[in-house]
Order: sequence, then structure tokens, then C-alpha cells
Amino acid sequence: MKDYRLIMTIFGASGDLAHRKLYPALYQLFNKGFLADHFAIIGTARREWDNNYFRQVVKESLTEAKQDNKDIQDFLSHFYYQSNDVKESQHFNQLKELSLSLSEKYQTEGNQIFYISLSPKLFPIITSQLKDQGLLTDQGYNRLIIEKPFGYDEKTAEELQSQLTQSFDENQIYRIDHYLGKSIVNQILPIRMNNFLSHFLWDPTNIDHIQITLDEEIGVEDRGAYYETSGVSRDMIQNHALQLFTLITMDLPENMSNDALRQKKIERLKQLKHYSDLKDLKNNVVRGQYLQSEDQSQIAYRQEKDVASDSTTETYMALKITIDQDKWGKTPIYLRSGKHLNNKQTDIKIIYKKQAENIPANYLQIELAPKPGIRLCLSQSDSTHRNEIKELNLCYHLPRELAKVIPGDYEKLLFDCMNGDLSNFAHYLEVKYAWQFIDSIHAFWQEETDPDLAFYSAQSNGPEAGDYLIEKDNRSWLNE
Ligand code: BG6
Repeated sequence: MKDYRLIMTIFGASGDLAHRKLYPALYQLFNKGFLADHFAIIGTARREWDNNYFRQVVKESLTEAKQDNKDIQDFLSHFYYQSNDVKESQHFNQLKELSLSLSEKYQTEGNQIFYISLSPKLFPIITSQLKDQGLLTDQGYNRLIIEKPFGYDEKTAEELQSQLTQSFDENQIYRIDHYLGKSIVNQILPIRMNNFLSHFLWDPTNIDHIQITLDEEIGVEDRGAYYETSGVSRDMIQNHALQLFTLITMDLPENMSNDALRQKKIERLKQLKHYSDLKDLKNNVVRGQYLQSEDQSQIAYRQEKDVASDSTTETYMALKITIDQDKWGKTPIYLRSGKHLNNKQTDIKIIYKKQAENIPANYLQIELAPKPGIRLCLSQSDSTHRNEIKELNLCYHLPRELAKVIPGDYEKLLFDCMNGDLSNFAHYLEVKYAWQFIDSIHAFWQEETDPDLAFYSAQSNGPEAGDYLIEKDNRSWLNE
């Protein structure tokens, strides 16, 4: 097994994401032997911790830590801490010295990954410090991983891009969208490319429409301040939902190289048809917001911490989108996503044209959550005297015994970055075209003097307007 050589510096090492996602993911990579003798992790944040305290924090993030085995001690011994105020140049000098000494100690050959898990407004400050203080080596590779959001709209994304690219080239920037690390999402293109059946299943002339659902049971929790600037349009649709849409509808690349693949994704996002005017938007986009739940156990969005009492931020959105292209142009795609709905359900359904009026439509479901798997739902006879039509489900769910082997989302994305594989990270132009689409919706919303918000009770199915959006086309959401 390849023992990867690298130093990973994590900005925001005391944060929640590092604790919940990064340390457990790094441990899995260690456990599977990809990280062994030649790696070091530098954690950095404002807090005045030392190595021992940091290692204790990392240990607590690992569920396996209870066993307190030798492996975990070995793993933790690769973690180092350096407190850092990102605005202070001298702190970057200290980081540089630490990095150089660890590079020598672990013989990491100058390979470096910088992971920024901090507020996006700090991204350019950190990247310019890394360059100006000489932390970027020309010996090995320098890669930058950043969390979303990448900008707030197209304009701010463009500003951010121009700041980051003063220190890192586009092909050194790994923009995390954790949906692209999900194992079932990673199977979409191989299924499309490697199975003869898929030519039929993905031929738009056979498809009536597509549904993409990203429903969540949780509300905004303690992220009210962030959510007020985001809403579901920026939090889920601009990135996760549009990435799924792209993987499902993009033209297949000639090969799986980063460039070929991302080029096809960019093309598809560029072809997203924008709504022509407010009327068109209202016909095709529903925005909603949750109220208190009927049993009063959940508060309304407007009562959440750091949320304005008259907020018009959308916690639910349903939209019908189309592609400005001949092949897919006649196939509508319905997206929906919301907080505080009655179930966590994340899936894609491709619904085929009916064979006869009285026979239910066949469909292909790609389920990300709660039970990752793929299901082809066909119609057959019930084999009784009555010969009624019933559903025949051809299912594939990830086998339990594989659960330990299949990487989690962050583990997969870190591993891809260690390999220089950008295919599961969004290119700047993907982000840009996705913003253009979302921005065009916001521009129309701003024209409305009285926002057309469809309210729904927390823990319900969402607003009726979301159902009506699809029902007026004589279709309905498939909720199974
Ligand atoms: C994040 C959003 O990107 O995705 C959260 O910021 C959301 O608001 C989360 O809860 C959903 O991810 P998943 O993997 O649980 O579907």
C-alpha cells in the first residue's frame, strides 16, 4: 500500500468541522494504511493550546479512542499544534519553521495540503500570507482545500477567486462539496458509463421527468446567523442540488480525466435555463419558511436564535428547471429541499414515460440517505388470478460488510486531494454558473414588494405550494 508523504496544515483546528469530520477521516486513512510513517498534521487556531492538549482533542473526536490502543497513540503522535492569528505575519514564520522541521523529520518531500475550515472572509488573508511568508514550497506539491460557501453570489465568488489565484492556481484549489464525497454519488458516472442498460435509462427520449429531493428533518439549529445570509437557495441548491443535477444530466466525457469531466459539468451548468421574468419565476419556483410545529415541540424559523423576527429567508425551495439544449431541453427537472420536514430523504428519481395510461410509471431511484442504494422500480403482474399490476423493485444497497471499507465523504475527499484528483471538487466555472442561476432568482425575488413565502409547519411535508408546483404539470412527488 502506498504510504502517502505530506504535511497537512489545518486552519480552524479547534472548530466543530475538524472535530466531527476531519480527525475521524484522517484516522480512517491512517487505519487503512494510506497515512503511516511519513505524514504530519499541524493544527492551528487562535487558542493557546499545546501539542498534548491538541492530541487529546483529536483523540476525543475518534470513537475508536476508547480502545486507547497503540495505533491511536501512534496516530496522535503525528499531530502538532501552533497557535496562530492569521493576520499576524510573524505567526506564519513560526508555522513555516514548524513545517520545515516536520518535513525533515517525516520526510514528506515538500508535499503540503492547507485546509481552511474558517470563515470565508479569512481565505484570502491566509492564502496571501502563505505565499508572502514563503510557506509554499517548490519542492513537492501545494494544495488548498476550502469549505463552502465559495462567495455569496457570482460577484463575490469572482473576487474571492481572483484573490486566491494570486497564491494558488485553479488546479491547486480543492473546493469541498461533501455531497461529491458520498459513495453513492461517486457511483453515478460509473453506472452511466459502464452498463449497457444505462444507455436506455439515461436517454431523455425515454424519460418523462427527474426529481431531486434534499429534505432534512433538522432545522437551522445554532446556525441562524449564517442561515440568514444563505437560505436554502445558497446553502443547498447552489451547490449540492445543482451538482447532483449535473452528474445526472451531463454529457459523458470521453475519459475520466479531471479536465474532461469538469469540462462536461461546466457545460451543463452553463446551459441551465434562467427564468425570463418574475411571472416565469413564480410559475416555476416556490420558496417557503417553517413555522412552529403542530405539536409545538419545534419553534418557527423566525424564533430561532440570530434570526430576524420578520425574516423572509427561505428554509424551503421547490423549483422546476430546464436545460437550454436540444437533447435534454424537453425533460423537466424538479428540485426540492427544505429544513424541518418530517423525514430526512435525499434522492434522485428518474421517472420514465408511461407504457400505458393505467400502468404506473417505472423509475430509477438513486438514494443518498437514509439508505444509500439504487432501485429500479418496474411494473409486473401480481401473479394471481386477478393479474393486477404491482411494483417490482430491483434494488442494490451497499452491503453492510462493505461499510467499513467504503470511505466516508470527508475521507474520500481528503484521499482524492492526496492523489491530486480534482474530479470530485467543483471547478471555479461550475461555481460561477451555479451562482449565475441562483443570482437570477434572487434578482427577481428582490423585485417583489411582498415576498411570496409559502409557510409550512415544522415536521410536516412542506408547503402545499411545493406540491402544486409539480401537480399542475400532472405529475406528483414520489415520496417512497
Ligand atoms: C450542508 C449544509 O452543506 O449540508 C447544511 O450547510 C445541511 O445546512 C447539510 O444540513 C446536509 O448534508 P447531509 O450530508 O446531511 O445531507
